[in-house]
Amino acid sequence: MQLEGKTAIITGGARGIGRAIAERYGREGATVVIADLNEAGAQAAAAAIGGASFGLALDVTRQDSIDAMMAATIARTGRIDILVNNAGIFDMAPTLEITRESYRRVYAVNVEGLLFTLQAAARQMIAQGRDARGSGGKIINFASQAGRRGEALVAIYCSSKAAVISLTQSTGLDLIRHGINVNAIAPGVVDNEHWDDVDARFARYEGLQPGEKKRAVGAAVPIGRMARPDEIAGMAVFLASADADYIVAQTYNVDGGNWMS
Ligand SMILES: NC(=O)c1ccc[n+]([C@@H]2O[C@H](COP(=O)([O-])OP(=O)(O)OC[C@H]3O[C@@H](n4cnc5c(N)ncnc54)[C@H](O)[C@@H]3O)[C@@H](O)[C@H]2O)c1
Repeated sequence: MQLEGKTAIITGGARGIGRAIAERYGREGATVVIADLNEAGAQAAAAAIGGASFGLALDVTRQDSIDAMMAATIARTGRIDILVNNAGIFDMAPTLEITRESYRRVYAVNVEGLLFTLQAAARQMIAQGRDARGSGGKIINFASQAGRRGEALVAIYCSSKAAVISLTQSTGLDLIRHGINVNAIAPGVVDNEHWDDVDARFARYEGLQPGEKKRAVGAAVPIGRMARPDEIAGMAVFLASADADYIVAQTYNVDGGNWMS
């Protein structure tokens, strides 16, 4: 029960990695606020956790939606201790086919949405003040191995995740003055609905059969397979716990050995 008595907001927690983290946080004793574009999915995921956890609508691309989500959370919980900035979207195209619409859509969620959700949470955490241990709260951003190195067909997504690593460094260095630890997780390839979509896109651009790209990327991981969403959750618990009080502005790879840094 490493998160006993804590309130955690998880953006994009209706499915995938966010949902696995939400379930694990619930088992660790946290009240989990699942905030997602998919409101019904967020509520269903929260109901599966039970207790005081609940689901809310959130579109991280809109400031009014971030503000409303934060206000509704505080009205019900009185405080927030942890933000998991997990909501993210993917797109890909060869360089000559990249569109401004795709660029704006991906950056609006992965970069702008992440930054302004972080800002709203940090404002609330600073207003609350530090706890008896001196902690002002924990913020965990979702980067990706895609942020460590470019990929020929994935310029926008890769660069958006590189931006997450950089934002984690700058905001982490700034907010630690308030005792707020900002860190990030860079997963490798995680087998879920997100990757079913990625697989279908690669099939189109590389002339592959459905499932072929997934099999290839899984086999190429040093551990020999893709991750399950719940295998990312342990790092998210650790970074939210007291054990991570001295960890500042870092991005941790949870990727079966794909990247070393
Ligand atoms: N799956 C992977 O292999 C992988 C690898 C590295 C990094 N990641 C990152 O991990 C995070 C979670 O990935 P996942 O695979 O679980 O994705 P997913 O597509 O399964 O889930 C993403 C969730 O975010 C929500 N969402 C999308 N846009 C939103 C918005 N504007 N506002 C609020 N919620 C929104 C969706 O409704 C969905 O529930 C993402 O940031 C992703 O980029 C995933």
